[in-house]
Amino acid sequence: MRAVDGMSLQLMPGRTLALVGESGCGKTTAGKAMLQLLRPTAGSVQLDGVELTTRSASELRPLRAKMQMVFQDPFASLNPRLRIGEIIAEGMLALGTGGMGGSTGDRDIAARVGPLLEQVGLRADMVGRYPHEFSGGQRQRIAIARALAVHPQLLICDEPTSALDVSVQAQILNLLSDLQRDLKLAYLFITHNIAVVDYLAHDVAVMYLGRVVESGSADEVLRSPRHPYTQALLAAVPRVDGAMGEAPKLAGDMPSPANPPAGCHFHPRCPLADADCRRDYPAARRFGATQFVRCIKA
Ligand SMILES: Nc1ncnc2c1ncn2[C@@H]1O[C@H](COP(=O)(O)OP(=O)(O)O)[C@@H](O)[C@H]1O
Ligand code: SF4
Ligand SMILES: [Mg+2]
Repeated sequence: MRAVDGMSLQLMPGRTLALVGESGCGKTTAGKAMLQLLRPTAGSVQLDGVELTTRSASELRPLRAKMQMVFQDPFASLNPRLRIGEIIAEGMLALGTGGMGGSTGDRDIAARVGPLLEQVGLRADMVGRYPHEFSGGQRQRIAIARALAVHPQLLICDEPTSALDVSVQAQILNLLSDLQRDLKLAYLFITHNIAVVDYLAHDVAVMYLGRVVESGSADEVLRSPRHPYTQALLAAVPRVDGAMGEAPKLAGDMPSPANPPAGCHFHPRCPLADADCRRDYPAARRFGATQFVRCIKA
């Protein structure tokens, strides 16, 4: 089975690339493959021009601090038996980036962790508390502080707001946006919800069954989507005026990547599909200044 196939993405400092698609399309696999948490079977992943896929685990270790992941579930991703000061200091100590000389003294940790907590909108005096003493949104702030503790250049945020209440989601998106501005971070923002993309993405890649079917600047992709799948995702977003777009709503389920449909993988669900669509997987074609689309009828 190919969970991710033929994907090509580029991330830049200070910019956010949103990776969007339905659950099971391969977003998390792609993110983990970039970080070498999963080893891709083919292809290349480079960070600042350094090839990662050929490096051993020990060779990757010094590079790990440069790329961090924030996970969907802030309840599962924090060790309940550690105080948040210890949780945040863990990565610094493991990767040797804390400037603490390997010390685990309470005062040293507090000195480094306090400012980090404040940077993510928490209070420095919360350092001694346990994860269960925090709300979901606060826990996601802790997870972000833990990622920032090692001074990363790239943050892969895997559905970081999907488990949170809508009002809290906006606060976390605001925080990520502020941090990016202040720290020039590159984000890969993974989401199944195209509605949140407009808020913080500079670039968008839409994924369907392991492949990127449309990509480009957020402006071009969201304002003039050309792939029927992107159009369907956008049409499903409720609007303030209650109107729905003209594109048909998405029917049916995504097929299994273990047995993808012949030709364009989207053809069983595509309202425009005909015999031509069932022959070959469509090549990427360029539109506008930045947009690439894999649909023969785009
Ligand atoms: N460890 C695994 N072993 C086998 N299949 C997996 C594994 N992890 C994910 N998959 C499958 O790979 C596909 C992509 O999964 P995933 O990357 O988690 O998608 P997404 O994050 O977009 O929901 C899915 O069909 C999923 O069932
Ligand atoms: S190639 Fe055909 S089936 Fe695939 S998205 Fe385009 S029109 Fe639909
Ligand atoms: Mg996922």
